[in-house]
Amino acid sequence: MTDMLVKLYQLPPLTPVMQQQTEHGITIRRAIPPEKHHILDWIRQHFYDTWVSECDAAMSRMPVSCWVAVEGQKLVGFSCYDTTAKGFFGPMGVSEITRGRGTGAALLLACLHDMYAQGYGYGIIGGVGPIDFYNKICGATVIPDSTPSVYSGMLESSE
Ligand SMILES: CC(C)(COP(=O)(O)OP(=O)(O)OC[C@H]1O[C@@H](n2cnc3c(N)ncnc32)[C@H](O)[C@@H]1OP(=O)(O)O)[C@@H](O)C(=O)NCCC(=O)NCCS
Repeated sequence: MTDMLVKLYQLPPLTPVMQQQTEHGITIRRAIPPEKHHILDWIRQHFYDTWVSECDAAMSRMPVSCWVAVEGQKLVGFSCYDTTAKGFFGPMGVSEITRGRGTGAALLLACLHDMYAQGYGYGIIGGVGPIDFYNKICGATVIPDSTPSVYSGMLESSE
């Protein structure tokens, strides 16, 4: 686990990845507060309790700093920023059956463009994860000596 740095002022354009998702029948959009319970349940089912807590923080901000991928009426992915620390991107996840269709790239770029629009110049991708994916999609680079970063001393379940 390491953090990565992204230049938000040099992001790839959002339109092509959004168009690709539309062609797959997937909508990428900002989440809205009435969906919070549904999104948190879905994350608990597919991923980790720590991600539920982080997404809860994103869902409680205004504007909400969580983006979702929706296919039909079904949630198939999410991404968040400003959860554990300001300027931090993550967590994000796509359901296993949806992976490989560009949805992760679209969710990542939607959040990063949103961060730039909110006034950030650089983004930090916290505690990755798939380094090659982040480098490929947004040119993120590893921040040396960034483990465990802002997560130091975090309480964890003892299951
Ligand atoms: C990482 C994740 C979000 C990627 O979602 P996805 O929808 O499958 O990704 P995409 O289809 O948008 O992939 C875009 C590109 O990145 C590549 N890629 C995807 N996952 C990758 C990985 N783990 N490592 C390296 N490259 C990866 C794809 O091959 C694709 O390349 P292409 O454009 O040349 O075809 C998804 O695998 C996931 O939810 N993983 C589990 C949760 C997780 O690790 N989240 C990140 C926590 S830091």
